[in-house]
Amino acid sequence: MIAAKKKFFALNDDVKRQYQGPAGTLLGYIPFDKERYNPNTYEVHEGFLMLSEDEDNLPYSQIPSLLPAAAKAFPAKAFPAFRDLSSNLMSALSVALGQGKDYLARMHQEFFAKKGYSCLRVNHFPPMEILPPPNSVRFGAHKDVSTFTILMTGDKGGLQICNRAGAWMDVPPNKLLVIAGQFLHFTSHEKFIAPVHRVMIPDNADRDISRFSIIFFICPDAHLPYRPACIEEPEPCTWKDYYSSFLSDYLTKNYQKKE
Ligand SMILES: [Fe+2]
Repeated sequence: MIAAKKKFFALNDDVKRQYQGPAGTLLGYIPFDKERYNPNTYEVHEGFLMLSEDEDNLPYSQIPSLLPAAAKAFPAKAFPAFRDLSSNLMSALSVALGQGKDYLARMHQEFFAKKGYSCLRVNHFPPMEILPPPNSVRFGAHKDVSTFTILMTGDKGGLQICNRAGAWMDVPPNKLLVIAGQFLHFTSHEKFIAPVHRVMIPDNADRDISRFSIIFFICPDAHLPYRPACIEEPEPCTWKDYYSSFLSDYLTKNYQKKE
């Protein structure tokens, strides 16, 4: 799987851009200049994102231009394994919250029906043979908007998570990591905290080697409130509304702030 990914990301930029999904989305190929998670940093990453509805529907319904090379590099068969793991995690988290086992599953009916916004994403952080500009990172600091996120961190370091004291902690390579997203943060009344995380450019020889990560975002049903009604908020909105504003910020506004 990794060899096929390397082959895809090694394609020419104009070829890879043929795999982009519709404008204003993160579907399909995500080029280097598409996202900026912090307006004050340069981000050096590219990626590929598939919705769970594409699991049974190759070539991917959202990306008509998909070519065989991408289908081989991003096999949809990874979805069932992530779904099974997610189902078990949801049961355990529900019990931890003092609820019945199906408490969270009932908020993820689209996910179990292979619909909605849950998605599989592969990130590629290219080798940097020359020193990057100041304020460069591989992925800027952010919180996930998901319920929770499962990460296969890859065989190189660089991922960091901010702890409650505000200190950055290194995540060792070759780990399967689960982090809470903002939906779980609010739904659990902050029993589970959505941490700020980022991917830094190594200051050693690892900088010169490609790094890959595989990430599965489990997202709630789109119509659910982004925060429970008892939590004060200036503008109540659905999870889908919040996700749309998230995309708008990171795909558009952060670029405008920088330029
Ligand atoms: Fe993230």
